[in-house]
Amino acid sequence: PSEKDSMGKTLYNYQGSWYYPNTLQAILNYRKHFRARDTYIILASFPKSGTTWLKALVFAVVHRNKYAPNLVSHPLLSDNPHNLVRFLEIDLYVKNQHPGLEELPPPRLFATHMPFQTLHESLRDSPCKVVYVCRDIKDVLVSRWHFISRLVKKEELYSNYPVEEMVEKFIKGAYSFGPFQDQVLSYWKESSVNANLVLFMRYEEMIEKPEAQVMRLADFLGCSFTEEEKQSGMVEKILELCSLGNLSNLEANKTGTFTCGIAHHAFFRKGGVGDWKNHLTNEMARKLDEMVEKKLEGSGLKFE
Ligand code: A3P
Repeated sequence: PSEKDSMGKTLYNYQGSWYYPNTLQAILNYRKHFRARDTYIILASFPKSGTTWLKALVFAVVHRNKYAPNLVSHPLLSDNPHNLVRFLEIDLYVKNQHPGLEELPPPRLFATHMPFQTLHESLRDSPCKVVYVCRDIKDVLVSRWHFISRLVKKEELYSNYPVEEMVEKFIKGAYSFGPFQDQVLSYWKESSVNANLVLFMRYEEMIEKPEAQVMRLADFLGCSFTEEEKQSGMVEKILELCSLGNLSNLEANKTGTFTCGIAHHAFFRKGGVGDWKNHLTNEMARKLDEMVEKKLEGSGLKFE
């Protein structure tokens, strides 16, 4: 099935999610050629849920023996997190490329916005790791609305592209990588039955208790922090390196563009929890919350 978005571009449905043609083509290419290898780590998220932060954190955590977080030549100080951890379907598998992932030196980090059911089946029986980060739908929606405005570099879009339209799209479900709630549920379910494969994280918890969440991440990835590391402030140093304030002020993130043409700076804005209150009406919030609650009913997952 296909649908048109508000700009007249066609979206296609594949395994329950909506994609623009280039992304769908890359997903089909990925599904044909990707096979799980033991040391793969896949960072999964719905767009605008904290992907950039997760990429930076996981990169810093798994490479901490090679690159100490206070190293002046740390790769995160000179490169955008999206260049260090590349997307399977937006980057590596586009244009029918066969990226030869297995030839990369371990640990091999990749990212995706695909729902769990679209990830390759070979991951299920592998010792690979998938980390999923989710965020409240209302903050995701507002973040995406700002992102699209910056993306097309038309500040006037704030008035041309009313947030109501974005709310309508989310309610209808036909938008790139949507529906949000179906994707969240796909990873939640898998994390409940296969906790060795999928770690389910929440942006709000990362904001609230960052040290605990980074330690949880390291435990899951099989590289727990030692007592000595904890006492030397390693966790705090990693958090500082990966903070929104630090990353967004780096030259590498203020300038340049990501391989798919998006400006690096578009991935950093305000961060935190609850910015939706500045943009959505209570009625919009209620509709979105009800829709998510309905989908998640009985799953054990709740958004406060
Ligand atoms: P806001 O638009 O609400 O500010 P993604 O990385 O999935 O595209 O998500 C982008 C959102 O994460 C943006 O949210 C952005 O500001 C926020 N973000 C980016 N880097 C971050 C960091 N290091 N720490 C916390 N939030 C971050």
